[in-house]
Amino acid sequence: MSHTSPQQMEYNLKVVRQFAVMTVVWGIIGMGLGVFIAAQLIWPELNFDTPWLTYSRLRPLHTNAVIFAFSTSALMGTSFYIVQKTCRTNLFSDKLAAFVFWSWQTVIVLAVITLPLGFTSSKEYAELEWPIDILIALSWIAYVIVFFGTLMKRNTSHIYVANWFYGGFIVTIAVLHIVNSMAIPVSFTKSYSLYAGAVDAMVQWWYGHNAVGFLLTAGFLGMMYYFVPKQAERPVYSYRLSVVHFWALISLYIWAGPHHLHYTALPDWTQSLGMVMSVILFVPSWGGMINGIMTLSGAWHKLKTDPILRFLIVSLSFYGMSTFEGPMMAIKSVNALSHYTDWTIGHVHSGALGWVAMITIGSMYYLIPRLYNQTSMYNVRWINTHFWLHTIGVVLYIVALWISGVMQGLMWRAVNAEDGTLTYSFIESVEASYPFWFIRFVGGLFIVAGMLLMAYNTFRTIRQGSPTVEYVDLPAKATKPAEQPA
Ligand code: HEM
Ligand code: HEM
Repeated sequence: MSHTSPQQMEYNLKVVRQFAVMTVVWGIIGMGLGVFIAAQLIWPELNFDTPWLTYSRLRPLHTNAVIFAFSTSALMGTSFYIVQKTCRTNLFSDKLAAFVFWSWQTVIVLAVITLPLGFTSSKEYAELEWPIDILIALSWIAYVIVFFGTLMKRNTSHIYVANWFYGGFIVTIAVLHIVNSMAIPVSFTKSYSLYAGAVDAMVQWWYGHNAVGFLLTAGFLGMMYYFVPKQAERPVYSYRLSVVHFWALISLYIWAGPHHLHYTALPDWTQSLGMVMSVILFVPSWGGMINGIMTLSGAWHKLKTDPILRFLIVSLSFYGMSTFEGPMMAIKSVNALSHYTDWTIGHVHSGALGWVAMITIGSMYYLIPRLYNQTSMYNVRWINTHFWLHTIGVVLYIVALWISGVMQGLMWRAVNAEDGTLTYSFIESVEASYPFWFIRFVGGLFIVAGMLLMAYNTFRTIRQGSPTVEYVDLPAKATKPAEQPA
């Protein structure tokens, strides 16, 4: 930049803006699809007898859209913002960062095209076929280079803890994706996994669970460790605990995958190991949650007036809830009841809608005005309305599915005392679930209404503002530790 002195460099906020806007757009599309498939479960005719509108094809589109489009755009955008701010430097390469953005959006568009057409590897959360997998790997490697390259050229001696969580997430997802996607192509649109039988299942759920542990958890903890202290204007409650939290979490998560495969052909000891590791995982999870919530010490009164803080803190409560529920469901005897039922789906969404979506929405409300030269969103009261729409929606969703889940589990195992035959047919349990699926659908409508309000608020904020241009001021020798977000 011609107008910057050697002591000044411009932050790359453009790529952050792009990801932030796409987070909102994909949020609406992904959650809108969730509502649509929720409606299909009640009114199956909504597939209009069209193959590419069937539940089996739109369900993976929903999961891909919310995990890889909405959540990952949020993670990529916030990580690029936080790594620059806390390392007091700009991105390692603007061109490579632009490649990350455009290649990632291309991956998503390809998912939107190929999944409804029925092209799938059939591995959950890794459905995309091999040519797209290669693009994912390239995009992710570029992401690794930009993120770690920026860390390496930092102007601080210390690496702020949020970056550790993001770094752990970025490296692990690269490894998981490459190992789990190993396949032999038979055509441009079809491939077969390199692994077979129980090994395939094990690799798949080592991937699947760590996609939850690293993408939907560690990455978002990075977000939490930056935006909660920022919005609360308080330092992290215990910085030491945050470091212990990081190491404990990443060393335990990686072992927990077999809890998805209880009572299967997987060797028994592997299942038990997965169970034990999952139960222990409760400890660092709650340590992290408490660290986040206690960051509000001395600022509790802000919850009364600040809807952004409410999003962030309530997200942590849902994080606590789902990481209490998860270890419990990992216990074999509990899993015997919960597996295959709506209980799992309720657990997923208390994590996904309660934790992941709420921490993202809160962080975006903090970030978006700052990316567009504004001090706050166009309308702060709408943030409060969004908070209530979302919270009511999530509670309706998960409470309904807890009830239907336990009900389904109990109905499936009920036997007649006289002759040992099953008391209920499967279809009876489906019929009994309809009222709860309807409540879930209504909850989803609340949530999407909130997202639409967010989109309008974002649009007005952007229209009222202009892209922020911000420089990092470097002291002659900037080696001051940046233990708290700069
Ligand atoms: C309006 C909000 C949402 C609605 C109405 C919704 C609805 C649904 C429905 C109906 C299913 C299929 C359940 C089944 O097959 O029984 C599902 C699955 C799933 N959704 Fe959502 N969803 C929403 C938001 C989200 C978000 C934000 C995320 C992630 C960040 C998410 C992640 C998932 C995952 C991972 C599954 C697969 C669960 C499994 O296979 O166990 N959803 N969702
Ligand atoms: C200590 C933390 C956690 C543990 C030990 C845990 C454990 C479990 C268990 C036992 C299941 C059921 C597996 C089955 O019966 O098939 C499950 C499913 C799932 N959990 Fe968690 N969970 C934790 C936290 C979370 C969080 C925070 C999220 C989301 C952000 C999440 C997302 C999911 C998803 C998406 C599934 C469904 C996977 C599938 O079958 O498609 N979990 N979890």
